[in-house]
Amino acid sequence: MNAVDPQLPIVKSIDLCKTYAGIAVVNKLNLEIKEGSFCGILGPNGAGKTTTLRMFIGQCPIDSGELTIFGKAMPENASLVRESVGVVPQMDNLDPDFTVKENLHVYGRFFGIPSSELKERIHELLDFASLQDKADSKISELSGGMRRRLTLARALINKPKLLILDEPTTGLDPQARQAIWQKLRELKKQGITLIITTHYMEEAERLCDRVIVMDHGEVKADAPPKKLIRSEIESHVLEVHAADDRLLERVQQDESVARSEKSGDIHFFYGEKLKVALEVLEQSTHDDYLFRPANLEDVFIKLTGRDLRE
Ligand SMILES: Nc1ncnc2c1ncn2[C@@H]1O[C@H](COP(=O)(O)OP(=O)(O)OP(=O)(O)O)[C@@H](O)[C@H]1O
Ligand SMILES: [Mg+2]
Repeated sequence: MNAVDPQLPIVKSIDLCKTYAGIAVVNKLNLEIKEGSFCGILGPNGAGKTTTLRMFIGQCPIDSGELTIFGKAMPENASLVRESVGVVPQMDNLDPDFTVKENLHVYGRFFGIPSSELKERIHELLDFASLQDKADSKISELSGGMRRRLTLARALINKPKLLILDEPTTGLDPQARQAIWQKLRELKKQGITLIITTHYMEEAERLCDRVIVMDHGEVKADAPPKKLIRSEIESHVLEVHAADDRLLERVQQDESVARSEKSGDIHFFYGEKLKVALEVLEQSTHDDYLFRPANLEDVFIKLTGRDLRE
């Protein structure tokens, strides 16, 4: 594909809709994603994140609305667009019959990369993913973290301008997750546009310069993560676990408590200072509480509720 016009958004959707069994799982999505941004899409299970990403790459038909990727209308230009997109799907789809190197090779051949160039690129990508030692291993011999790194390496085989990552770190240990974060930061520095979905709020907070919170196929919030925390929620949270009603009433009397919520036997008090509430607790015999700055998870819960989804 020719060079992308820097003025054009990499992704643009207008009233994008997808319905399954009469239910709108993506409902009038209006989005513009600029080149070079690192955009996180957050949302509860079933919010429509994967469906949205699948429409972006032409894997799922669009019911109504408009979608352009690199300024090209989708799904008409899906094959052309896919030449410049890398995808890490939610479910690993590495070929279990092939080795690590062979998986990269087969994928590279799909893009018509000549053998000599492909050999060099595979070498670089194995280095990038710290998988040189596993080049000849079967997929079944890899740990979960290695598989995710290999899927990421595979997504880069065609030197994409846009990288789409659907929960790239789910189920990984902190070391493996941080290794992937490091790689994603490197890619961002190279100017690649990244779109990631994740259920790890701290991941979105650390990596993304923009976070879109989706629920029931609609955008509930769209801003840089720090701005979301500043604008959508009180600055601090006091979590009080299993306290008696009389103590909770006294905590609630603090005038700086702007909002409170109950979930099971935990009471959440939101406010700016909560000084009086803290004094009440300090002077009581109840020590099962936590006072902390509000974070993206608090924003997420405020916007999408505490009820379990699918
Ligand atoms: N091929 C399909 N046929 C029917 N329903 C589908 C299909 N794909 C997705 N859905 C439904 O669409 C809704 C959105 O699914 P989607 O996979 O986009 O959610 P998600 O936000 O990615 O969730 P998760 O966080 O669990 O991955 C869900 O209710 C799901 O059951
Ligand atoms: Mg999903």
